Amino acid sequence: MKNLRPVGIIGTGKYVPEKILTNSDLEKIVETNDEWIVSRTGIRERHIAAPDEATSDLAYEASIRALASAGLKPEELDLIIVATITPDTIFPSTACVLQDKLGAKGAAAFDLSAACSGFVYSLATAVGFIQNGMYNNALIIGADTLSRITDYTDRNTCVLFGDGAGAVVIGEVPKGRGFQSFDLGAEGAGGPLLKLEGGGSRLPATVETVEGKKHFIYMNGREVFKFAVRVMGAATEKVLGKAGLAKEDIDLFIPHQANIRIIQSAMQRLDLPPEKCVINVDKYANTSAASIPLALVEAAEEGRMKEGDTVLMVGFGGGLTWGASILVW
Ligand code: UT7
Repeated sequence: MKNLRPVGIIGTGKYVPEKILTNSDLEKIVETNDEWIVSRTGIRERHIAAPDEATSDLAYEASIRALASAGLKPEELDLIIVATITPDTIFPSTACVLQDKLGAKGAAAFDLSAACSGFVYSLATAVGFIQNGMYNNALIIGADTLSRITDYTDRNTCVLFGDGAGAVVIGEVPKGRGFQSFDLGAEGAGGPLLKLEGGGSRLPATVETVEGKKHFIYMNGREVFKFAVRVMGAATEKVLGKAGLAKEDIDLFIPHQANIRIIQSAMQRLDLPPEKCVINVDKYANTSAASIPLALVEAAEEGRMKEGDTVLMVGFGGGLTWGASILVW
């Protein structure tokens, strides 16, 4: 990618709904406790969308902040990609709903479904469009309202998820900066480990699918955990190699925020001290496609990245999928 037009992040924004659901709130809903949740996951609380808030609303709030920080008007946007598995509706896409809300007239708009890897998949897609000269800029949002597809009677999953959105504007940046490499991948055979079966063309919504809880997330946590540890390590090594870098070159590590134990195992493998890792799973839980951009935007807002810093992002999720990227800030 080094001889191509350099593309990087020129604006950032984030949004989480106001309502906070704590571990002690969950103790009143299911058979669980704060000690179990904190020790097994690192999560203390999560944000939950208001009844009248849908994914495009979260995405909109994050987007207007990202556009303001980029100094770009909505009508100047060429492309909008929303990474999500909780679109407002099956169609039209959430990106089209957002395009209209923003007033980004004429911008191309589509959703991308790669679960928790969706933001990195979307970045790679948009960077390609800009590098090949088709577009000059793009708005990429990772947004999910997982509370709408979470079964709050299932303690195996309901403690893990939250709602939120993170957005970035990408465009041409000075030489030497921007995205240096990507590694995307999938293992479709592992799809049944993490899924929502109902409401698609295989199993359209019926009274039976609703009664059978087929419109909620199903997850085999233990198997997804093993997959996560394996692919985080492999994708990290691959994306560093593609950029011609070593683990010592990483200034900031931004992993998918699913479980503190998965993050710690990746940090150990990379020999990274805590100050080089962004962790906010305690505040937001797993927000799927919003997880990496929420962490990235928060790190930017806290001034944790200096110009020229090497940033490694890596995520994994339903599909099963993974995605990693090296960015020079
Ligand atoms: O974005 C990608 C999506 N997902 C993930 O990244 C999740 C990956 N997996 C994980 O993070 C972990 O596997 C979990 C947090 C889901 C589970 O942690 P674990 O250490 O793998 O626990 P476990 O599934 O082995 O369950 C241990 C015990 C079980 O009881 P028994 O069978 O040993 O008696 C569970 O029933 O913990 C029990 N348990 C709970 N106890 C209290 C499961 N959920 C809860 C809970 N509160 N909420």
